[in-house]
Amino acid sequence: MKGKAEVIVGMQWGDEGKGRVADAITPKSDVIVRYQGGANSGHTVIVEGKKYIFHILPSGMLYSGKTCVVGNGVALDPDRLFEELDELSSQGMDRARLIVSGSAHVVMPYHKILDHFEESKGLKRRQGTTEQGIGPCYVDKFGRTGIRVCDLMHPDMLRDKLDYILGLKNQIITRIYDEKPISFDALYDKAMAWKERLSLYVGDCSKVVTQALNEGKCILFEGAQGTMLDIDHGTYPYVTSSNPTCGGVCTGTGVGPKNIDRIIGVAKAYCTRVGEGPLPTEDLEEKGQYLREKGREYCAATGRPRRCGWLDLVALKYAARINGTTHLAITKLDVLSGLEEIKVCVAYDCDGKRSEEYPVDTHILSAAKPVYKTFKGFSQDMSEAETIEDLPQVARDYVKFIEDQTGVPVVILGVGPDRKETIFRETR
Ligand code: IMP
Repeated sequence: MKGKAEVIVGMQWGDEGKGRVADAITPKSDVIVRYQGGANSGHTVIVEGKKYIFHILPSGMLYSGKTCVVGNGVALDPDRLFEELDELSSQGMDRARLIVSGSAHVVMPYHKILDHFEESKGLKRRQGTTEQGIGPCYVDKFGRTGIRVCDLMHPDMLRDKLDYILGLKNQIITRIYDEKPISFDALYDKAMAWKERLSLYVGDCSKVVTQALNEGKCILFEGAQGTMLDIDHGTYPYVTSSNPTCGGVCTGTGVGPKNIDRIIGVAKAYCTRVGEGPLPTEDLEEKGQYLREKGREYCAATGRPRRCGWLDLVALKYAARINGTTHLAITKLDVLSGLEEIKVCVAYDCDGKRSEEYPVDTHILSAAKPVYKTFKGFSQDMSEAETIEDLPQVARDYVKFIEDQTGVPVVILGVGPDRKETIFRETR
């Protein structure tokens, strides 16, 4: 009997609360797989009252008997991976089996340095990146000058490859950015230290996952970032350099599309974004401030305040289409409580023309003005709600409206910060 595969995908600009949803599904999954991104993401998991923040490791690492896989689509920073593993083992919590794809690209120190220079030296348009070297690493992947995990396993070949690549990088670092070159010996020694430790985990992601499916196991693919940050489908060029969308699962793990059973799209009940780029419903006034403070909208990794605004249903419908979303999880519904009125964007005004279609042209999107439908506010505390029927009527209407507009059922609702404060409308 074939197993089941589910994907958790962000439907907005990242930080949708995917960790909460993964937290609920992980205990029922046998294999948990990261398929893209890298240490640019931050994912909080609370187990036995203790909080863990993962940047690279899948959340399943905290559970014994699970297999966790870092897929080939991930930009892997070995130092960050080892930090997370060390933290887990110091707590006696490195309970799962870990496999790191040999085809994953390695974030090298020069990637992080270049990301920092690109952001800070004013020679390139600022993106507001996390400066984790993600963009430069994927640039090398597609430019065919990347270093993969499997390359680290061949010291002589690596020496030649690094010599050539570092030569190019040092030209950029010294001539364009007027900074000191990176030492080859220090870099090579670091790579050899990584090899020692990574060799314990190297494997074939596609084989492991497909075999598990054939054995009837449940697989969870954990997305990082969100659809609107997707390199192909997001607000280009203000995007990350990978495919957080569902298609990224196939390319980022080597698992065929027919194997995917459920695609759970996660969206906040409003919108947030960190970094540059369009956010059509952004509210720069007091409502945005209200959402930021009540929703504690500050980036976990960098402390940056998130830009906040109303739910954008035009973008959400687009994300549902791009991902083939089968189920929705709406998080932070409780944050809307206490507002006199709640707005939701149902169309854009593009140069005087109303459109319910998301424009893929970022120039058009940047000038689009949201057209809102307004709901009456509600003030009830919803933390005790166990079913959707326990919610105020307006909140239920709001959820129903999201379902009607997107055509996707809402099966998970976050109604408070605690993991208990989650309503499940359908179990697996
Ligand atoms: P990068 O992924 O670090 O290259 O950053 C590119 C853009 O994606 C920036 O606007 C970042 O703020 C944004 N970004 C990257 N990772 C996340 C995330 O996990 N949550 C939200 N935004 C992110």
